Amino acid sequence: MTKRIVVTGGAGYIGSHVCVELLSRGAALLVIDNLANSHPEAINRISELAPGDIRLIERDLANPAHKDDIVSAVREFHPDGAIHLAGLKAVGESVAEPAMYYRINLGATLTLVEALEAANARSLVFSSSATVYGDENANPVSETGRTAPANPYGRTKLFIEEMLKDIARADSRWRTVNLRYFNPVGAHPSGRIGEDPNGIPNNLFPFIAQVAVCKRKTLSVFGDDYPTRDGTGVRDYIHVCDLARGHAAALDYLDKQTTGCALDVNLGTGTGYSVLEAIAAFKRASNRDIPFSIAPRREGDVAEIYADADRAKKLFDWRADKSLEAMCADHWRWQSQNPDGYKS
Ligand code: NAD
Ligand code: UD1
Repeated sequence: MTKRIVVTGGAGYIGSHVCVELLSRGAALLVIDNLANSHPEAINRISELAPGDIRLIERDLANPAHKDDIVSAVREFHPDGAIHLAGLKAVGESVAEPAMYYRINLGATLTLVEALEAANARSLVFSSSATVYGDENANPVSETGRTAPANPYGRTKLFIEEMLKDIARADSRWRTVNLRYFNPVGAHPSGRIGEDPNGIPNNLFPFIAQVAVCKRKTLSVFGDDYPTRDGTGVRDYIHVCDLARGHAAALDYLDKQTTGCALDVNLGTGTGYSVLEAIAAFKRASNRDIPFSIAPRREGDVAEIYADADRAKKLFDWRADKSLEAMCADHWRWQSQNPDGYKS
């Protein structure tokens, strides 16, 4: 792969792993990130892990005053395509501030699309989410499953997916893929990059990791009365490095297409684990106690969801291969070596 790729949100959790994967394949990268939920040290660590051609421009894709700069930078970079990870992702915040979520997530995407048009580069991989499925489908959930997101965050993802399909329909030079991630966890095996959440983590793995490192006393398990094997919620956790490889595979796929396309593709392992199974695995990996108590169900949670991962295998020749043990060991290495994230 010798390519020039724009990576929006490249300083973030998933984006930093995507950057390492692409640089290690010889790509040149232009990262656009306003560092609203990330740290500039992430870019230094990416360069340390995969020395190569990477440049950060610190701009807000949703701010109209930054648009001209972004369009010029993208045009001057002469990209072959883009991976679009930038956006807001906190479900609770999206319920409280829906207008902000629509403005930023949809606005940022439109700016990127316009910048790519101006640069004559019409390949785009978008970070969507399994959250677009809601809770109406039988498992494993395939891409033809019904979409019914339960909150504004999920609806921004679905609306962006639809927007990209309309754009590809109108102009057959566009090739787009909506990657529907299941539950990304873990960190680069070096322990140098990983998830660095601000404040109290909403998601299970960062919370468990902070309990293991004694930053928090106890984990609340949201519900033990679901119709699952042990009563707790079941999810398809996927190692963030497998996920990053999935992005490179999606770009390779788009590269080979001779006509326009607009696809939805799940990135998951196809296997679900319960909250109690995840806690037990993390305990083994960290050799630390993880005190927890059972709390009421969290609003908006589904009982069980895991991916049908066949389409990614068929189209991209990609599948996730890291185990839950590897996810926990790598997540723990990052957390224990960087107890305060990049500020450590
Ligand atoms: P993250 O917050 O770590 O990364 C997002 C990056 O985008 C951050 O570096 C942030 O500073 C940047 N950003 C946000 N708004 C921006 C703007 N207006 N202009 C420029 N940069 C901006 O999140 P992540 O976990 O790495 O997620 C990346 C993408 O994947 C997001 O779109 C998220 O919705 C999606 N996703 C994440 C998960 C997950 O569990 N982490 C699951 C499904 C989908
Ligand atoms: C959540 C979001 C989803 C988003 C995804 C990635 C909700 C309802 N869903 O997915 O939209 O795409 O994060 O950002 O917020 N759990 C606990 N205790 C905790 C945290 C979680 O028991 O402190 C449980 C949950 O009930 C769930 C499982 O752990 O059963 C995984 O939760 P989480 O990591 O938040 O992911 P999702 O709920 O799948």
